[in-house]
Amino acid sequence: MPDRIKVLIVDDIAETREQLRKLLSFDPDIDVVAMAASGEEVISIVAEAYPDIILMDVNLPGMDGIAATGKVIEIVPSVQVIMLSVQGETDYLRRAMMAGARDYLTKPPGADELMDAIHRAFRLKQKMGTGMLRPLSEQGEQQTRAAAAGAMDAKVITFYSPKGGTGCTTLAVNVAVALQSILGPEARICLIDANLQFGDVSIFMKLQPSRTLADLVPHIGDLDPDLLETILVTHSSGVKVLVAPTSPEEAEMFRESGTEESGANVTFRSILQFARPLFDYVIIDTAHQVDEILLAVMDITDLLLVVTRPVIPEIRGARMYIELLRKLDYDFDRVGLVIDSVDRKRMGIQPEAIERAMMPALAHVPLDERTALRAANLGEPVMVKGARTALGQGILELANTIHERVHVVAEEEQPEVETLRRSGLGRLL
Ligand SMILES: Nc1ncnc2c1ncn2[C@@H]1O[C@H](COP(=O)(O)OP(=O)(O)OP(=O)(O)O)[C@@H](O)[C@H]1O
Ligand SMILES: [Mg+2]
Repeated sequence: MPDRIKVLIVDDIAETREQLRKLLSFDPDIDVVAMAASGEEVISIVAEAYPDIILMDVNLPGMDGIAATGKVIEIVPSVQVIMLSVQGETDYLRRAMMAGARDYLTKPPGADELMDAIHRAFRLKQKMGTGMLRPLSEQGEQQTRAAAAGAMDAKVITFYSPKGGTGCTTLAVNVAVALQSILGPEARICLIDANLQFGDVSIFMKLQPSRTLADLVPHIGDLDPDLLETILVTHSSGVKVLVAPTSPEEAEMFRESGTEESGANVTFRSILQFARPLFDYVIIDTAHQVDEILLAVMDITDLLLVVTRPVIPEIRGARMYIELLRKLDYDFDRVGLVIDSVDRKRMGIQPEAIERAMMPALAHVPLDERTALRAANLGEPVMVKGARTALGQGILELANTIHERVHVVAEEEQPEVETLRRSGLGRLL
């Protein structure tokens, strides 16, 4: 039996604190270790109480719950904050996420909802603490070998859109930078520009690469981590980038190796398979056609994000692609929709209408032309200095959602796999 989950409750109303405490007393895994009535109070007791989880009310007299969240995380970085607020305060959500809150519930939370959120946040905390999200670089041979053996596989996140100019590169670049900042400098985040002919990740990040993906092709039979390391370009955020070849002709080198039976490009698939165990996350930006490179990417992807803006031709393109995925029997647990450039103020197609026509979206990223333009022209990802802009906040929320989705889903799948193993069926998988 693992340790009990230590919870600290923060609310200025004594009755609410008491109700939450009572609710949690029904869960044998949870131990309420302390309660506080204000932001100032939680800051003064958090080091001593050392909770795993804090339930934080947004509206507190004096310092509000969001400011208090930022402070408690500085004092106890491992703590997971679940924010509570009354309905209608959803614009707090983004600020809460910015301050580092892990989850957000509306008051009064249902018992199941509250306990689920606590267990989920605790599982994430344990993963971070046990190094399951830790880097694989700067390590000895032993770990590199473990990595090569696939002991620790990155989560692979792909951004794809059948139409150009929908925001795939913007999202891929900034989600990579956001994950690096959420997980800290130790995390190994790799960004791969799979738009081999016209990739522009290096422009979005102002990188001057001396080596590109094309330099891996001659070594495809004997890839090793040192070689990969010399070809990766490190951005100032810490993200490691495999940039696209510098000319469309060079991209042709990939075609020569031919395709697997599945249609996936042999060379590109080898590169992805080699890189995967060396990172915590691999983020892939793609070109817009469905070809052998995209098929190689799709095979290895944990979360395929189809990007569209609220514009008819793009929605139509995304729908056709989703239909294609259906025909290919692609696993829909691995597919997510992202609606970019959402503008609620303007007349036009609202994201809910797109969701009804396709599937619920994983995130709506707001239209923020000023920030996007500045980022593109300076070659400075939004997340570097613009995390507080509307676009920055939208992307941060998307990155958090992705992180939660791939890790919590993986976690929740585990017991099932174990049952299968026990019954001996696992060997057949
Ligand atoms: N949420 C947003 N709000 C405003 N502008 C945006 C937003 N997202 C992206 N853009 C802008 O839209 C343009 C296209 O974005 P981006 O290059 O990321 O798309 P893409 O799908 O990768 O396009 P390409 O076809 O060139 O690969 C860029 O100028 C970018 O700055
Ligand atoms: Mg692009």
